[in-house]
Amino acid sequence: MREHAYWDNRVAFVLAAIGSAIGLGNIWRFPYICYKYGGGAFLFAYLIALIFVGIPLLLLEFSIGYKLKGSAPFSLSRIHYRVKGFEDDKELVERKGSFEWVGWFAILVGFGITTYYSVIMGWSADYLVYSFNTAWGNAPREFFFNRVLGLTDSIFHLGGIRWPILLGLAASWVWIVLSIWKGAKTVSKVVYVTVLLPWAILLVFVIRGLTLPGAFEGIKYYLTPDWSKLLHAELWHAAISQVFFSLTVGFGVMIAYASFLPPKSDIVNNAFLIGLADAATAYVGGFAVFSTLGYYAHLQGVPVSQVMKSGPELAFVTYPTIINHLPFAPLFGVLFFLMLLTLAIDSAFSLVESVVASIMDKFGVRRWKANIGVAVAGFLIGILYTTGGGLYWLDVVDHFMNNYGLFLVGLLESVIIAYFYRAENMRRFANSVSERQIGKWWNFSIKWIVPIAALVLLVFSFTGTILSPYGGYPRRAEFLGGWLVLGIFLIASLILSRCKKGGEA
Ligand code: PHE
Repeated sequence: MREHAYWDNRVAFVLAAIGSAIGLGNIWRFPYICYKYGGGAFLFAYLIALIFVGIPLLLLEFSIGYKLKGSAPFSLSRIHYRVKGFEDDKELVERKGSFEWVGWFAILVGFGITTYYSVIMGWSADYLVYSFNTAWGNAPREFFFNRVLGLTDSIFHLGGIRWPILLGLAASWVWIVLSIWKGAKTVSKVVYVTVLLPWAILLVFVIRGLTLPGAFEGIKYYLTPDWSKLLHAELWHAAISQVFFSLTVGFGVMIAYASFLPPKSDIVNNAFLIGLADAATAYVGGFAVFSTLGYYAHLQGVPVSQVMKSGPELAFVTYPTIINHLPFAPLFGVLFFLMLLTLAIDSAFSLVESVVASIMDKFGVRRWKANIGVAVAGFLIGILYTTGGGLYWLDVVDHFMNNYGLFLVGLLESVIIAYFYRAENMRRFANSVSERQIGKWWNFSIKWIVPIAALVLLVFSFTGTILSPYGGYPRRAEFLGGWLVLGIFLIASLILSRCKKGGEA
């Protein structure tokens, strides 16, 4: 097994976990989804999902990692069957290895997400450079889709590699590897900058946004509740899926991060702190985004609903357009893309770190080899998304990872702990190390709410996909970018869990 690296202190752990949770999901996914699903009503659903699904899962992943002291595959391989009593671990009937594949599956899904997440970081890095002379000029949309992405007309028409994106991608991977070079030790230092800096910049954007004309209209759009939407299943689907993505649960990351906690660490308090900090950042981020959109709508003389765009469009078209109208445009451009980059980096490296930790736990390879191996693999796969058809593939893979991968992991993790390890045993363990105590509600959540919610969402996603192909892409693309990838991950997890342990280090 790898020699154990620990966090420098509690603050480092909390910041690292917050850094993993806070990412692009908070700033460009949350506000858009919130608006789309009924503003204030969505906030309410999100809070419910956070309390009943998100925080219980976070507590679960922290407990697994802290109790079993390893990466997701390693920890899950040590879950014992037929637990007789909590006090006496020796009495447990042990069947090692049985659940290891679930850990690998989580890691692979997370890795799949990181392969395109790092490409978005690559775009952001390019835009950071473009900001210096607002290179997008007066046609940010044309600039983004044609000049930068070179978007082709269909998913099977790849066009060529877009070299600036490839360069940005390479830079992102170098940055990721350097940030985790010595594991928790390096991360403990890096997060002071990569978590605190984007918060500071976000604050600048909130203040700037709220003082622009038209800001209030934007905020009204963001928050006016449409309670009738609470009756729609899609709203709950969106809320729970946002909770998974945003809290980084179901990726195996939080398991690895908790395994770096030194003895006598608290987990309950920390889980609440991290969950709430993530939600608060998303909420506050919404003020920055919507006030600015209000300003934009005001400039154009159109309603806010017409300027609201999701994802890539929001960050790489709408924002540059707005930045054009601000005094000191290049400065705001640089700040904005620096914020995106620093928001994203700690999510990306948390994942890579959890892959590296898994490889080290299992095969005993040296850290530097695992670091570089994972980065090279991630970079090579990422090349697909740097092509002219890349955005289409990114969209398909993203859909499948989020709507199948993460829910499946959530379902399996909760069932394994609730019914094999026993929820009550884990609850008592978490309480035994924490100041604040979790009540029996947690057992109920892990035994019923989380697995049922995950299962229902899986079925929901599946029927949706069967009825009409995702995003109107050809079925063949859906098969290659979705089902095939999931299938490969599943088979690879089974194979990896059956591999012999190595021991180089
Ligand atoms: N929690 C991250 C976010 O909100 C998502 C993420 C985690 C992405 C880990 C990649 C790796 O952006």
